[in-house]
Amino acid sequence: MTMFSCCFGKVASSTGVVGKENNRGSDMDINTELVDVENMRCYTYRDLRVATEDFRPENKIGQGGFGSVYKGMLQDGLLVAIKILSAASSQGLKEFLTEIIVISNIQHENLVKLHGYCVEGDHRILVYGYLKNGSLDHTLLGRGHSSINFSWEIRKKICMGIAKGLAYLHEEVHPHVIHRDIKASNILLDEDFTPKISDFGLAKLFPSHLTHVSTRIAGTQGYLAPEYAMRGQLTRKADIYSFGVLLLEIVSGRPNQNRLLPVDEQFLLERVWQDYREGELVRLVDPSMEDVDTLEACRYLKIGLLCAQSLPKNRPPMSDVIRMLNDEIDFREKDLSGPGLLSELKSYKTVKNNTSDMTSSGSEPFDDSRSYGNTTTSFSNITYTTITER
Ligand SMILES: Nc1ncnc2c1ncn2[C@@H]1O[C@H](COP(=O)(O)OP(=O)(O)OP(=O)(O)O)[C@@H](O)[C@H]1O
Ligand SMILES: [Mg+2]
Repeated sequence: MTMFSCCFGKVASSTGVVGKENNRGSDMDINTELVDVENMRCYTYRDLRVATEDFRPENKIGQGGFGSVYKGMLQDGLLVAIKILSAASSQGLKEFLTEIIVISNIQHENLVKLHGYCVEGDHRILVYGYLKNGSLDHTLLGRGHSSINFSWEIRKKICMGIAKGLAYLHEEVHPHVIHRDIKASNILLDEDFTPKISDFGLAKLFPSHLTHVSTRIAGTQGYLAPEYAMRGQLTRKADIYSFGVLLLEIVSGRPNQNRLLPVDEQFLLERVWQDYREGELVRLVDPSMEDVDTLEACRYLKIGLLCAQSLPKNRPPMSDVIRMLNDEIDFREKDLSGPGLLSELKSYKTVKNNTSDMTSSGSEPFDDSRSYGNTTTSFSNITYTTITER
C-alpha cells in the first residue's frame, strides 16, 4: 500500500503559487513547493539542452496543450522524453507542480516514470522515461503514422494494463488519486506494449472520508463523465467513465468522435449503445485484427459500456473491472442501461445554477463566469484545465 504522507496538503498549497501575479511562479516559490519531494532529480537547463542537442527540431516527438515534448539522452545514457511547459500556457504552473508532487510518491508498472524536473529562470520542464511506442492516439487511433499491428492479444494487454494502473491509483494509493484525464493520448506504450498512464497534471487526491471533491471542471471532451461535466462533483467514477470510453476506442480502433462520419455515426458511445441494442456489437470490433476472439471482444465492449453508464453508481470499481476483463466475474447484462451521453450536457446550465452553494471539502470553487456553451458542437482532444479554456 502506498501512502502520501502529507500530499493532500501539498497539492492544495500548490494553488497558492498560481494565484500570484506571475503565474509561472518564481524559482523560489516553486522550490518551496517542491522542498519535500523525494525520488526526483532536479536537472539544470544545460543538462536538458545537451540531452536534446539544443532542442533540435528533429528530436521533437510531440506537442500538447502545455507545450512541446522532445526525445533526449541524458549523460548517463538514459533515454527520456522532455516536456517543456510553454511560456504561453497560462494554466500550466499548477499542473506542473501537481504532476511532480503526485507522481513522485507512487510507482507502478503501468504509470509513466517521472525522473525529474527543471526549474530555472523562465524554464519549467518535466523529464519522463521515454516510451518507444508513443501514445495510443497516434499509433492506434490514426492521429499519426504507425506501422504497429495492434493484434487482439496486444489490445487485451493494453486494456488490462491501463485497468491495473487505474485500480492502483483508485484503490491502493492513500489518499486515492483521481487522474481526471484518462484518454488515448495519455496512454504511452513501451517496447513490449506495456501501457503507461501519463500526465498527472490534473490529478486530485481524494481522501477516503469524502464522498466527492467539488472542483472546477477539467479534462478532455469526449471522455468527461456527464455528472462531473454538469455538476463539477468529482469521484473516481469519472475516471472509470473515461476508461470505459477508452476501452471502446481500443477494441473498435476508432476515436470517440469522428466528424468525418455521417452525423449518426460520429459518436462512438452512441454507436456502441445502438449496436448493442440491436444485438450487433460485433460490427464495432476492429476488422483489422486477424487473431480476434469476437466473443471476447464483444465482452470487452460491454464492459466499456458498463464503465460509461450514465449513473456513476452503476459503474464498477476498477478492481471489479479487472476481474471482468479476466472473465473471473460476470455482470448482469440485463442491468445495462444507456451510457452517459454528451447530449445530456445540454442541461448543464440549468444544473449549474443549482450548485453555486457547494461547500464540500473540495479545493476550488465552481467558477460561475464559465459557460459550457458550445459543448455539443465543438470537440477536441486536448486537455482543458477548465472546460472552456484553451
Ligand atoms: N514519455 C514519453 N515517451 C514518448 N513519447 C511521449 C512521452 N510523453 C509524451 N510523448 C509524446 O508527446 C505527445 C504530446 O504529449 P502531451 O502529453 O504533451 O500532449 P497530449 O497528451 O497529446 O495533449 P494534452 O496534454 O494537451 O491533452 C504525446 O501524444 C506522445 O506522442
Ligand atoms: Mg498527454
